Amino acid sequence: MAANRLVVVSNRLPVVLSRSNDDGWSIQSGSGGLVTAMGPVLRDRGGLWIGWPGIATEDCPDEGRLDNLIREGAGQSGYALKYVYLNKNEIDMYYYGFSNEILWPLFHDLFSNCNFDPRYWDVYQKANQKFARSVIEHTDDDDYIWVHDYHLILVARELRKSRMYCQVGFFLHVPFPPLDIFLKLPWRFEILQALLEYDLLGFQTFRDRRNFLDCVRALHKCRITGRGQVMNIAMPDHEVRVGAFPISIDYKEFADFACSQEVADQAWIIHENLPRRQLVLGVDRLDYTKGIPERLQAFDDALARYPQLRRKIALIQVVVPSRRDVEEYERLKQEIERLVGEINGRYTEVGWTPVHYIFRSLSRRELVAYYRTCEIALITPLKDGMNLVAKEYCASSVDENCVLILSEFAGAAAQLYPNAILVNPYDMQGVADAIYEAFTMAQEKRRERMRNLRSQIRKNDIINWVNSFLKAGIAKNLSDFPHMELFVPKQ
Ligand code: UDP
Ligand code: G6P
Repeated sequence: MAANRLVVVSNRLPVVLSRSNDDGWSIQSGSGGLVTAMGPVLRDRGGLWIGWPGIATEDCPDEGRLDNLIREGAGQSGYALKYVYLNKNEIDMYYYGFSNEILWPLFHDLFSNCNFDPRYWDVYQKANQKFARSVIEHTDDDDYIWVHDYHLILVARELRKSRMYCQVGFFLHVPFPPLDIFLKLPWRFEILQALLEYDLLGFQTFRDRRNFLDCVRALHKCRITGRGQVMNIAMPDHEVRVGAFPISIDYKEFADFACSQEVADQAWIIHENLPRRQLVLGVDRLDYTKGIPERLQAFDDALARYPQLRRKIALIQVVVPSRRDVEEYERLKQEIERLVGEINGRYTEVGWTPVHYIFRSLSRRELVAYYRTCEIALITPLKDGMNLVAKEYCASSVDENCVLILSEFAGAAAQLYPNAILVNPYDMQGVADAIYEAFTMAQEKRRERMRNLRSQIRKNDIINWVNSFLKAGIAKNLSDFPHMELFVPKQ
């Protein structure tokens, strides 16, 4: 099957524009798993990424300036970028509203966090039409269109309405909820029908795919056949393949960077400043799905019930700012800061602070230095599509004398369970016990488990993931795409 170019379509571009202090503009890389995962895929062969640059049309620089900035971003990324403009109303109703106040909590089983405001649906549809129009404008029939995540479920439907019948795949980075939760969505028929317009649907885990197929069985009368990694749904005019493809990371990039001198220097600084204690690391976007307050309470409980941990352990909790305009997120920030203050107030002694709280985005060097230095990773989301931080931590733990504590509700648990300590994030005492178990685990056991984790992730890296998706979609590997050189004209 011919496919000349890989075209990634997601709500966000991998770069975010923002106004800098001196009234100029700056361009930074975006945060979150989708961007980290897809970056290396497009860098490998080149291609095109269509998305939103993170600011409202009303605040955008003039078009010429924006073009230059995006071109600069493309130069940094190594592949072409095309932006989709969103105005303030669309950002409120489509991005914050339908995507992040309805689909995000619902798909993470947090139904009570949903705000089913009926005004959101219309704007969600219009914004999806915009992305579809951009695809039509910038692609050819022999491009492979790969749409990502819950913001853009309707893109294939809109392409088909415009009689565009190219191959279109979709990957959902977040979980797919069980039937009884999905049924609560007022637009459940429309969302399901729209998903069935794609040629290939990819989910993170077999559980997500099973949930999706349960919904299809309950709401649509169509024949589902096959077993194994890819199953088929027979629609009247086409066939939809449905698979579980657990996403991964560029293992080599993290492992190599962790061995670099700049990371070693930074790791040394961390060690020197926090000597004679084991460091426990949490890294999360500010999000109520990540279980940060529950984790802090568990850490508190560990210090209370295992006094031998005091002065010997410290938690470094990195929280990356995210979706600040959703009220729920602002409340969460306040709750986290209150808990950090309480724990530090209760236990801090001269020379020892139990929780180091960082509220900002880290550079790759800082992040990998923390991964490399910290003896324990404490990753306890209430629910997570995959959780790439867990995989990045293992890849960067080149000394292997460390332990991964992982929530059983992270997609990554399905792959990493034999060698991580699995916990129920709602079970505060269980998490506290796991911290103590990790702290006291013998070095040989730590090394053996971490070696197994690293080898698992190395064998199932991001290229492996992209190949399994493309094989199921168009019977191709990434390396079958011709290499596209990026031409960035000089200004
Ligand atoms: N990350 C980042 N900046 C930071 C800290 C982390 O970009 O300061 C990245 C991290 O490397 C990881 C991603 O954010 O790739 C988080 O992905 P994950 O799947 O764990 O969760 P998500 O944020 O997608 O829900
Ligand atoms: C998760 C979602 C991504 C999203 C990212 C960051 O990883 O699956 O689609 O891009 O969070 O969230 P944001 O709202 O800042 O794009």
